[in-house]
Amino acid sequence: MAASLLTVVLAAGLGTRMRSDTPKVLHRIAGRSMLGHVLDTVRVLTPERLALVVGPGMEDVAAEGRAAAPAIETYVQAERRGTADAVLAAAAALDGHAGDVLVLYGDTPLLMSETLSRMRAALEEGAGVVVLGFEAADPTGYGRLLIDADGGLVAIREYADASEAERRLRLCNGGVMAFRVRSLAALLRRINTSNAKGELYLTDAVELARAEGYTARAVVCNEEEVLGVNDRSQLAMAEAIWQCRRRLKVMRNGATLVNPETVWLSYDTAIGRDVLIEPNVVIGPGVAIEDCVTIHANCHIVGIDGKNRGGVRLRQGAIVGPFARLRPGADIGPDVHIGNFVEVKNTVIEAGAKANHLAYVGDGRVGAGANIGAGTIFCNYDGFEKHHTDIGVGAFIGSNSSLVAPVKIGDGAYIGSGSVITKDVPADALAVGRAPQEVREGWAARYRARRQRRK
Ligand code: UD1
Ligand code: MG
Repeated sequence: MAASLLTVVLAAGLGTRMRSDTPKVLHRIAGRSMLGHVLDTVRVLTPERLALVVGPGMEDVAAEGRAAAPAIETYVQAERRGTADAVLAAAAALDGHAGDVLVLYGDTPLLMSETLSRMRAALEEGAGVVVLGFEAADPTGYGRLLIDADGGLVAIREYADASEAERRLRLCNGGVMAFRVRSLAALLRRINTSNAKGELYLTDAVELARAEGYTARAVVCNEEEVLGVNDRSQLAMAEAIWQCRRRLKVMRNGATLVNPETVWLSYDTAIGRDVLIEPNVVIGPGVAIEDCVTIHANCHIVGIDGKNRGGVRLRQGAIVGPFARLRPGADIGPDVHIGNFVEVKNTVIEAGAKANHLAYVGDGRVGAGANIGAGTIFCNYDGFEKHHTDIGVGAFIGSNSSLVAPVKIGDGAYIGSGSVITKDVPADALAVGRAPQEVREGWAARYRARRQRRK
């Protein structure tokens, strides 16, 4: 039976190079905080306990941790005295736990759960300490893994403390460590600050554990997996790598991305089979796309934003864009067409309805098969409150109509073009709300003649 697992996530880093009022680990990749990504990766290992180490005053980081994993315990590292000290901030969790301990950083969002599983397997095979290593293209600054002739891990030498020869080693410490020792807290309490930085190095645990008779091993992963985000350029790099990975997955699952590099997905985007996505499409959080949906070029689709959490659903066979904007609560029914320069928010659009050009469709319901003409506006806001517009099945809304909510258009009703509709319209009626047309025979000819004489 697998030992129980405690995961400790270190997030007390200052992150000053982000130049931000937002703590580093709350910066987002694909719509989810880096901390959220890390906690999601860890979830696959089903840890019995989760501990998060934050710095003083980082209540928002703790809150994000709880949002991602309600049972997470938060510990505060009072002073930034090094990675071993950070883990010891969670000593209460360590002391109350018999089993494996996994330590990782909150600012390495690209780590994969398969890799953590491999580290776990190495513990199962008898290692007391397992370190995640990688071959760095530019190894400057990283701790080096010292490996013996049998492939065992002897020590981690921090860059600042390494000799010239050690600095030539390419295998670096990625920062993730896993332990199966009697008491990790006792081991870490023996670490001291006699090193170039005067910090309490977690990496010293390798030598200490070996001195106690444990074996140490390295598990190696790709460099991109352990990319640490310290500034905005690394944030963009991590975003790019995440997007590449997810686009591949989406394509392997049967969606066509005509120009994958220009399609932006979110951490929770759900995409079915035989979906076609043309270039330049941005998909924010909370979007579900069913089978056989087509998204033409240049669409912006966001299901959850700062204020609204309604989600966006594109049902089977729907066609949207080019240049459509779908906002929270847009429920686009089967075979619906949403065309260019149409914005839909908080509205259920039932099967087969169409809004093909230039419209604002907000806070309403559009019945099956209804047609929303070009230039139709749902006037949903009176400056204080939002109101509902209801359009019946098969109704026809003539071009350039303003529907002043709250208002209800009955099934099968017709609205004349250019109408301002302020009152409900019964089923199968025609409503025209515009100035009646006036025609003055010969007026233009007389006007021209008059102007001509004056010249
Ligand atoms: C650390 C490793 C190094 C490795 C590198 C990989 C140590 C001593 N060194 O170095 O071997 O190659 O990561 O990126 O562990 N943190 C705290 N409290 C602290 C110090 C750090 O919470 O007092 C957190 C930081 O938020 C960060 C992580 O621990 O997420 C690593 O800290 P950092 O200062 O970046 O360590 P490095 O010097 O990069
Ligand atoms: Mg670092």
